[in-house]
Amino acid sequence: MKIPKHIAIIMDGNGRWAKDRGLPRFEGHREGMERVREVIRQAQRLGVKAITLFAFSTENWDRPRSEIKFLFSSLEKFIDKYLKELQENDIKLQMIGRRDRIDKKVIKRIEEAERSTKENKSFLINVALDYGGRWDIVEGAKKLLANCRSGVISEDDIDEASFSKSLALADIPDPDLLIRTSGEQRISNFLLWNLAYAELYFPEVFWPEFNGSELKKAINAYGQRQRRFGGV
Ligand code: IPE
Ligand code: IPE
Ligand code: MG
Repeated sequence: MKIPKHIAIIMDGNGRWAKDRGLPRFEGHREGMERVREVIRQAQRLGVKAITLFAFSTENWDRPRSEIKFLFSSLEKFIDKYLKELQENDIKLQMIGRRDRIDKKVIKRIEEAERSTKENKSFLINVALDYGGRWDIVEGAKKLLANCRSGVISEDDIDEASFSKSLALADIPDPDLLIRTSGEQRISNFLLWNLAYAELYFPEVFWPEFNGSELKKAINAYGQRQRRFGGV
């Protein structure tokens, strides 16, 4: 079976999953967190090397305060609960996204987890938090501009390769596969640059239903695709 090395996931449909069951939205987020662990374990087992999870977008600040609070406190709990397991499985955790708008306490917890897992090599989890693809590209442009101005690089050094390196995922190879659950078929400002040649997969299930066997289905579907990258 052809295995994607890097999978990007838009974990969508927590709210609708809860609504269908007559539950408050946060119950969907709670159940969704359980799938995160399951999907990571399955991905690592199948030989995937990296996973990038869209957990909170630059637009998700438009949600009710209480929901936002719940999402960030779930993330803190996730780190508390699974940091040991990440270490045992040699998994590196890092965050991509803006760090200036998230509660400092949450950022501190994330940075501790980043520090303590940074030497792990078997698997990489990128958590996209307060992340937007457009923000990422603008930040990259600013970095290049600053490097130009300070003379570290010249204008001629700006090309696709150096631009890529200035983005949040920098040296990590682009995702081979993008999965978005819940039946929605849009990118919602996720990795705009890096998804240029990703295979897209849109299962109908809501994120709280996306378990290890759903991931296997997605990888099987990926295995059937013919990637051409513009060639023949
Ligand atoms: C995804 O589920 C979780 C986040 C965006 C944080 P949603 O909360 O978007 O669930 P729906 O799309 O409203 O069902
Ligand atoms: C995208 O889902 C963001 C995350 C999953 C974190 P949304 O639910 O926010 O996207 P839209 O609003 O349906 O496009
Ligand atoms: Mg949604």
